[in-house]
Amino acid sequence: MNAASPLTPHPSPVITIDGPSASGKGTVAERVAAALGLHFLDSGALYRLTALSAMQHRVALTDEASVAALASALPAEFREGAVWLAGQDVTEAIRAEAVGEGASKVAALPAVREALLARQRAYCQPPGLVADGRDMGTVVFPDAVAKVFLTASAGARAQRRYKQLIDKGISANLPALVVDMEARDARDTQRSVAPLKPAPDALLLDTTEMDIESSVQAVLDHYHNRIAAN
Ligand code: C5P
Repeated sequence: MNAASPLTPHPSPVITIDGPSASGKGTVAERVAAALGLHFLDSGALYRLTALSAMQHRVALTDEASVAALASALPAEFREGAVWLAGQDVTEAIRAEAVGEGASKVAALPAVREALLARQRAYCQPPGLVADGRDMGTVVFPDAVAKVFLTASAGARAQRRYKQLIDKGISANLPALVVDMEARDARDTQRSVAPLKPAPDALLLDTTEMDIESSVQAVLDHYHNRIAAN
């Protein structure tokens, strides 16, 4: 991917932002992309769309071959700030906790990950890409110019998710959210394929005590330092 020599800037630099759920990586990644005028990939949305598609087709989330077939032909589009599946606006539907749960189950199936790989790499287009997920820096874009692993304590992440849900008028239970979050973290970190873990060359950013603006700034500083170092 980064075939350019260190002296010629890559035409499509990639910044990867990985981390556990509700760490704030989606918001940070979107703002970093906007600040730099780069494309943005929310890879979690692809796993959520795959789970939603399986649910709609009444395919068991454990049926690896059938779920992978749905993933490889996913009729999904990201346009006008909305997410579409087979012509239906599913922007809100994919954010449901049940779909997130389903996403983390189908994401543990190797054939599903394989089916989504080329699609994710195709987002790497000029002028460059900010990609957020769990394995952006380790598997999908191992040659990324700058990699960040964004974390926050489970308590802080559950609080953030709780606030997001309440702000949307969805009732939520904080202790239950902490339990769900820990279960999802365990599934994401313990799966055998592409487990959630920092790339060896990633900047570790603990945002427990940071707000969004300072997290965005830290990622931008890291990116500019990496560019300057090349
Ligand atoms: O980031 P988000 O919460 O939308 O992701 C939903 C689920 O998709 C995660 O819990 C994770 O299991 C899975 N995922 C993944 N690899 C990615 C992005 C998301 O396994 N790159």
